Amino acid sequence: MSQGDWTRDTPAPGLVVPQPRRGFRYGSEAFWLVGLATERGVPATALDLGTGSGIMALLLARLGARVEAVDVRPEWRAGWDAALAESALAGRVDFRTADVRDVSGGPPVDCVVSNPPFFAAGTGPAPEDGWRSTARFESTATVGAFVGVACGRLSASGSAWFVVPVEREGDLLAAVPTGFHAARVVRVGVRRVIVELRAGAGDGLSERLDDRGDVVEAWYARATG
Ligand SMILES: C[S@@+](CC[C@H](N)C(=O)[O-])C[C@H]1O[C@@H](n2cnc3c(N)ncnc32)[C@H](O)[C@@H]1O
Repeated sequence: MSQGDWTRDTPAPGLVVPQPRRGFRYGSEAFWLVGLATERGVPATALDLGTGSGIMALLLARLGARVEAVDVRPEWRAGWDAALAESALAGRVDFRTADVRDVSGGPPVDCVVSNPPFFAAGTGPAPEDGWRSTARFESTATVGAFVGVACGRLSASGSAWFVVPVEREGDLLAAVPTGFHAARVVRVGVRRVIVELRAGAGDGLSERLDDRGDVVEAWYARATG
């Protein structure tokens, strides 16, 4: 890992997360999702689909979870290795270079988190660099494929938490498999929506929150506390 190409960020005490200086870098939504996913306590086991720098996996492990984290791009490996070597983690993370479609057969987990690629393929100008492009545009797996794998890996009482641009809410909800439902749909600010998927049927709770409000601040505080 060349020092010049990566930054070395410290998003929470004891946690070091290397990120490419000019590539895809984590945003607030990663912290929101971890804050929500730990609202009812830290899950014992978690799966992070499309982990990128590993930010959500590492935050969850720092809080004590055992996490499996996958990303299709091999470039992330150097950052993961440095993060694991330099961070103080109460749980552990098993980082794997793999396509989400290849982890559908793993054991059930209490929690899935995912911030999948933002846009459908062909819906805008993709960066020429494949590493960056795969973070922003769907390639081998659509948001629907991410949803299918997440639901397939959930334990009976588990939750899958997704954050997507508001324009992708319809695609995400259309992909929810039979036997699962959107338990919570939270619009945060004007650009992002968070969806919690759970097994069974039920009416979803719909909320709209200010991205600078107290509730969202509390998610951030829990994720980094
Ligand atoms: C929007 S980025 C989110 C990264 C990180 N989870 C975060 O919140 O900062 C989406 C990630 O999904 C990964 N990805 C895209 N398609 C994938 C696939 N088919 N299988 C596994 N990972 C994939 C990309 O490489 C990228 O790291």
